[in-house]
Amino acid sequence: MSLEPGLSFDQAPPISVPFRFFLSAPLFALLAALLALWYGPALIGSRWQPSALALAHLMSVGFLGFAMVGAMMQMLPVVAGAPVARPVGVARALYLLLLPGVLSLAGGFLFAAQWPMRLGMALLGAGFLIFVVAVGASLKRAPSLNPVVLGMHLAVAALAVTVALGLTLASNYGWEWWLTGRVRLANLHLAWGLLGWVGLLVISVAYQVVPMFQLTPVYPRPLTRWLGMSLFTLLLLWSATLLMQDAAAQERAALTAGVLAAAGFGAFAATTLRLQWQRRRKVTDVTLLFWRFGMACLLLALALLLGAAGQVLPEPARLQVYSFALAFLFIAGFAVSVVNGMLYKIVPFLIWFHLQGQLMGVAKVPNMKEIMPEKGMRRQMRLHFAAVPALLLSAFWPPLIYPAALLFGASMILLEINLLSAFRIYRQSAKLAPQAGSQPT
Ligand code: HEM
Repeated sequence: MSLEPGLSFDQAPPISVPFRFFLSAPLFALLAALLALWYGPALIGSRWQPSALALAHLMSVGFLGFAMVGAMMQMLPVVAGAPVARPVGVARALYLLLLPGVLSLAGGFLFAAQWPMRLGMALLGAGFLIFVVAVGASLKRAPSLNPVVLGMHLAVAALAVTVALGLTLASNYGWEWWLTGRVRLANLHLAWGLLGWVGLLVISVAYQVVPMFQLTPVYPRPLTRWLGMSLFTLLLLWSATLLMQDAAAQERAALTAGVLAAAGFGAFAATTLRLQWQRRRKVTDVTLLFWRFGMACLLLALALLLGAAGQVLPEPARLQVYSFALAFLFIAGFAVSVVNGMLYKIVPFLIWFHLQGQLMGVAKVPNMKEIMPEKGMRRQMRLHFAAVPALLLSAFWPPLIYPAALLFGASMILLEINLLSAFRIYRQSAKLAPQAGSQPT
């Protein structure tokens, strides 16, 4: 069946495949908010302290990773025409490895404990290996290499590099401290993770979903053709600068690659805002607002990054402050916002779609607005829009971390409630289906 132009839902996996990831993602973010409340202003002290590293992974591997793994398992058959083989078994294995993996990694950081760190490394290493192999194999079978499929290829390759670098860095914590050049390697790890895996996936998925869900014109062809590949190449070049002997030349080359990558992301954010401005129906729904907010945060993060790199911003001692401001803007402001906005489209659509298949001719299928009411989404969105500026300001004035974490935590609780309420509607309606309970679809 084809419900949207160019998309085929014939091979969509059972609803349990993406939903176990979607329903768990906000709980990691809630845990991160609780951690921020517990540690308070001390959290903003240094990017290397255990609480900051635990928080970074609860957000990047927990919230973002879970939402993105679930979305990819769902989207591969739809946008690439290439489903993951044995999706139920793969999803189950991924979940059972990644969930305790993230918690062990965070525990290893927090308690400076070697065994949880080693366990976290084994679980996350195995989980991401299965994901990369399963998704890589299905992408290889994709009938065409359009910009969405190419972007997914690149994002998954970036994830593989991120995990390899992450495991190398984590061995410092799991055994004796042996790595030299840790700061450069950690910077590389987070660049591949945030710009590569998260950034490239958001960009390539945007090519498909922004015109489709927000009724905008399509992205310009030169952008969809070149942006993903150029950003990936810049990440490779940046990594290669690590091999340079001359420190000053290395710094210059890394700076050039960083500035060019920032320009690429800036072009993406500015184009997305322009397309939204030119959309055909001037309805501003929650997803559109989340994306608009996300793009504004991305542009602000890039301005901050360029300001820090060009030393426009004051003394280097304050770079710690800017690294927290950047992390809050990029992770909570940009990435969480677009994922949050997407969940509000994907979740009601999938529930409606699966119920449609089960209840056709038997009972009335609730519409998407009944499945995910506007009021609940808007309430949660307002909390998120208040939380992000508060988080950003807390980088400059740490006591603000208390209200910021409270707002962020409350927003994640509401997100979880909204998702669970929608899922409850699915469960109740699915009971009316002829073979209710036999096989979740
Ligand atoms: C197997 C998975 C992963 C492992 C074992 C891992 C491990 C680590 C380690 C050990 C550090 C600390 C570096 C140090 O203190 O020397 C770190 C930092 C970091 N990682 Fe990961 N990581 C993983 C996945 C990811 C992913 C997928 C992302 C992003 C999407 C990510 C984002 C970050 C960030 C933002 C930092 C903070 C660096 C800083 O303080 O500025 N990590 N990671």
